[in-house]
Amino acid sequence: MLSDARFSADKMRHRDATSPQPQKAAEPPRAEREDGIFVFMDPPEHTRLRRSLTGQFTVRRMRELESRVTEIAVEHIEAMKAAGTEADLVPAFALPLPSLVICELLGVDYADRAEFQERTAVGLNASSTPREQAMARAELHAFMRGLVAAKRSNPADDLLSGLIHDTDPPLTDAQLVDVALLLLTAGHETTANMLGLGTFALLEHPDQLAALRADPGLIDNAVEELLRFLSILQLGVSRVATEPVTLGGVDLPAGATVVIATPEVNRDPRHWDDPDTLDVRRPRTPHLAFGHGVHQCLGQQLARIELRIGLGELISRLPGLRLAVPAEQVPVRNEMLIFGVRSLPVTWS
Ligand code: HEM
Repeated sequence: MLSDARFSADKMRHRDATSPQPQKAAEPPRAEREDGIFVFMDPPEHTRLRRSLTGQFTVRRMRELESRVTEIAVEHIEAMKAAGTEADLVPAFALPLPSLVICELLGVDYADRAEFQERTAVGLNASSTPREQAMARAELHAFMRGLVAAKRSNPADDLLSGLIHDTDPPLTDAQLVDVALLLLTAGHETTANMLGLGTFALLEHPDQLAALRADPGLIDNAVEELLRFLSILQLGVSRVATEPVTLGGVDLPAGATVVIATPEVNRDPRHWDDPDTLDVRRPRTPHLAFGHGVHQCLGQQLARIELRIGLGELISRLPGLRLAVPAEQVPVRNEMLIFGVRSLPVTWS
């Protein structure tokens, strides 16, 4: 379905007229808007925007980011250790790490990072009220507009400056703001929840954690296995049929929405032996945690870097890392599009 051109990511345009109406019914069709949220676009619009961005995810930039990710991870773990032997890993580590990595990627000034992080934490936090979220998102929008203006007049060696100055034909300010916001929303909550839930999963499987401690070279494998096993985008990937389609023997009318149950796919016994078991030594096979087809996650290389370094540093720098409360008291985000933990009280030796 994800590689079938009869399905569209532009749900507003192709939605079945009988589906519930969106709140902003008067919105113009996407093609007439100057926006850049290309995850909800189809080719060729999607292709142009995505291509301008893939040109910025260079090997050199990823390599540089890798050393910054290590610095950020180590800084936060050392701050936790300096403060005692207990912490809530979500605010202390899982949320700030991806937020600061996006700051690096977009080239947010050091002086503005506290403000950026605060707005991100509220705007993307499932526990904030809808009003708090809406206000923080409006502020983030204004922040990105300011950032685009600053990079236009004062380019630096960051992705946003590259997008502004290297893209031909150039992107509009509205597109640039949307692309920056897309990177933030797509790259922050996902990675933060993988870090929190991934740590929880390892703590709940002490044999797997012990295997990783004994052989840190298993970390790449472990990251891939955690992505498969946890499938945090539990209801995340959906498309709309643009014409009548028969899919898996089911006749779908034009406008029907199909949602992929990623956790089911990633635990398909036809593809994995013993799929409900977390096994960090499992040979790597393709999974659907980053999607598939033209919209396959653009930041997957960066996400893997953050998870490998983030989880690796936690394990090596916090000997005896364990839960500080019984596992059943860890609050999970069951009802959210992205699965995860709201907080993760941990302690170490
Ligand atoms: C798209 C998962 C991290 C940027 C996607 C999609 C999935 C996904 C499943 C496909 C959505 C669809 O087909 O509708 C994840 C997971 C992550 C992660 C599980 C972390 C573990 C990141 C990061 C970034 C990022 C770190 C960038 C900083 C994007 C973008 C898209 C995307 C821009 C849209 C691509 C397109 O439409 O062409 N992600 N992602 N993601 N992701 Fe990620």
